[in-house]
Amino acid sequence: MDVAGAWAQHLNPAFVRLLGVFGYGRVWTRADDVWMWDDQGRRYLDALAAFGAASVGHNHPRLVARVRGFFDDQPLGLCHTGPTRHAAALATDLAARLAPLTVSLLASGGAEAVEAAVKLAVAATGRSGLLYTTNGYHGTSVGTLALMGAPRMRAPFEALLADAVAVPYGEIGPVRDALASRRFAAFVVEPVQAEGGVVAPPDGWLADVAALCRKAGTLFVLDEIQSGLGRVGTFVDDVVPDVRVLGKALGGGLVPVSVAVTTPAWHAKAYGTMERFDLHSSTYGGGALGCVIATEALAILDGLTPTVAARGERLREGLRAALAGHPFVKDVRGRGLLVGVELGPASGLASRLAPGLVELLSKQVLGQWLAVRLLEAGVVAQPATLAWNVLRLEPPLTIADPEIDRIIAAVATVLNEVRSVPTLLADVTARMGEQAWRGGTFR
Ligand SMILES: Cc1ncc(COP(=O)(O)O)c(C=O)c1O
Repeated sequence: MDVAGAWAQHLNPAFVRLLGVFGYGRVWTRADDVWMWDDQGRRYLDALAAFGAASVGHNHPRLVARVRGFFDDQPLGLCHTGPTRHAAALATDLAARLAPLTVSLLASGGAEAVEAAVKLAVAATGRSGLLYTTNGYHGTSVGTLALMGAPRMRAPFEALLADAVAVPYGEIGPVRDALASRRFAAFVVEPVQAEGGVVAPPDGWLADVAALCRKAGTLFVLDEIQSGLGRVGTFVDDVVPDVRVLGKALGGGLVPVSVAVTTPAWHAKAYGTMERFDLHSSTYGGGALGCVIATEALAILDGLTPTVAARGERLREGLRAALAGHPFVKDVRGRGLLVGVELGPASGLASRLAPGLVELLSKQVLGQWLAVRLLEAGVVAQPATLAWNVLRLEPPLTIADPEIDRIIAAVATVLNEVRSVPTLLADVTARMGEQAWRGGTFR
């Protein structure tokens, strides 16, 4: 089957064109743990993990066994007319981990779970205001776009929710000022911004924000869809929010499962009467297969989480050492196995000669160029969605030291070939030019 052709015709024509223009053209056929293969039989190391969804690695054997055994006792896949055991088991497991947050709103996708949190907050407080952070990313549904700062993503869909206000991530003053109005139902924030360019807040900021929210009667909603479940080295952040939102890795990279978990008190305020119990619902939320996989994924992640901090440290330190003094590498940062390499004019003669040009290049194409070069070197990675100048490295948490070293070596080899403006320009234009010459075809 002509997979790329079918995508160009029936799924997303412009996406296929973009892959061609940048030189990403690959059709992926299979995956195993940290490895992926294309239809030419080439093997690649996965340093993206489906944007964090494949944290347990692709096709983890315990999940495969769960799927295979799922049908043995004739499960009831979906049921909305009474309590079901698989959802009961998952919600009980989550409650044990996240107490005092012990009530789950189960959903499918991440944006859906964020919206569940927002609706809960509005219903519980009777307020309409929503506070979010610039450069945050919470999904692309109408409700979550209202919580996104990026004009490119939201402009075509305005007007969104009217009463949503942005504050800078990591600053306490603007949060304090905004919350003082006591008109906000929720403050929605990521513990580490992933798509915003792998940005962690200053130490203590989240705890301070949580305290301010409590004082203002605003629900503090932590969106841990990408950074949660062990990705940044701990199972949960040590701040206790009013709602935790989980997704991606919860589904083991296999099934869509997400959840907003809150306290019994907030849940009762929002939906605790017979007139209100069904104000929020989701057909596939709580479906049996999703709940079985999520329960198993949580158990697998328990085993992986203790290794994440050291692996992430190895990745960051290795990259820092290999890229030290590089004129186009501004920063190597992150938490656990969510790592960002920020590109742009750093220091040194090369970038002093043409800092404006390098800045422009890095904002527009450098991250994509680096990701394409890494693909050619057998490593799958992507720039952050809202910051193309930051290469995000986010491998499955099952990754071992030799593969981490392989990522470091690949990034270093590609970047160390271009330590001056002319060599960088020559490589970028050669590659993009070659693609353009070939008409930007998929391959
Ligand atoms: C922090 C965060 N929240 C929400 C979402 C949206 O999740 P989904 O794409 O499953 O709707 C994402 C997706 O990347 C995310 O990173």
